[in-house]
Amino acid sequence: MAGHAAYDAARVTLVDHPMVQHKLSILRSEDTGTKQFRELVRELALFEGYEATRDFPLEDVPVTTPICETVCKRVAGRKVAVVPILRAGLGMVDGILDLIPAARVGHLGMYRDEVTREPHEYYAKVPPDIAERTCLVVDPMLATGGSADAAIAYLRRQGVRDLRLLVLVAAPEGLAAVTSADPDVRIFTCAIDEGLNENAYIVPGLGDAGDRIFGTL
Ligand code: PRP
Ligand code: URA
Repeated sequence: MAGHAAYDAARVTLVDHPMVQHKLSILRSEDTGTKQFRELVRELALFEGYEATRDFPLEDVPVTTPICETVCKRVAGRKVAVVPILRAGLGMVDGILDLIPAARVGHLGMYRDEVTREPHEYYAKVPPDIAERTCLVVDPMLATGGSADAAIAYLRRQGVRDLRLLVLVAAPEGLAAVTSADPDVRIFTCAIDEGLNENAYIVPGLGDAGDRIFGTL
């Protein structure tokens, strides 16, 4: 199932900073234990959040330094919601909150049936004003794209307009599925891998992200 799936590359940002690549290599290794894996997922989420918020508009703000009065910049009233896809997405939430402490958090429970590969929604709780917020949907893995598609469709039904999907590892198949199902979503990923294996796991990937974050291997 090695993938040569075509996707809308204009809506995909590869976050390939040297420090990101370095940390991702450690994350992928089967020798990396739960504690370090969890720490790396959080750190990578912060770096990715930094790229995914690059276009946030700024406004002037007066600041008095110890030397003089001056005019500085601050983010102009942007309301943000971080929306992890449970379980594995939870591992990225604190990294985004390190960057955007005032963000609200919504939760979408999805699990992928390991036989049919179909996503199943089992929980949804999002801020009541979600439609007014920039939504950063987080999940370390984008494999077939089924889980992300279901999460994005749910948020669109709630009226969300500005929606960005942040993953750590993506398969071309998942990028193709998500960019063809939704005409506007932008995707940020630290790696675009070769494709999927016969179990729809990403190759080379990093295995089962949720199990590695929560130590349920
Ligand atoms: C994993 C992963 C994504 C999904 C990706 O979750 O965290 O949500 O699979 O696969 P897809 O693109 O083919 O849908 P999983 O279903 O294993 O649940 P978990 O996070 O609870 O472990
Ligand atoms: N879910 C994971 O956690 N890893 C994969 O490679 C695919 C789906």
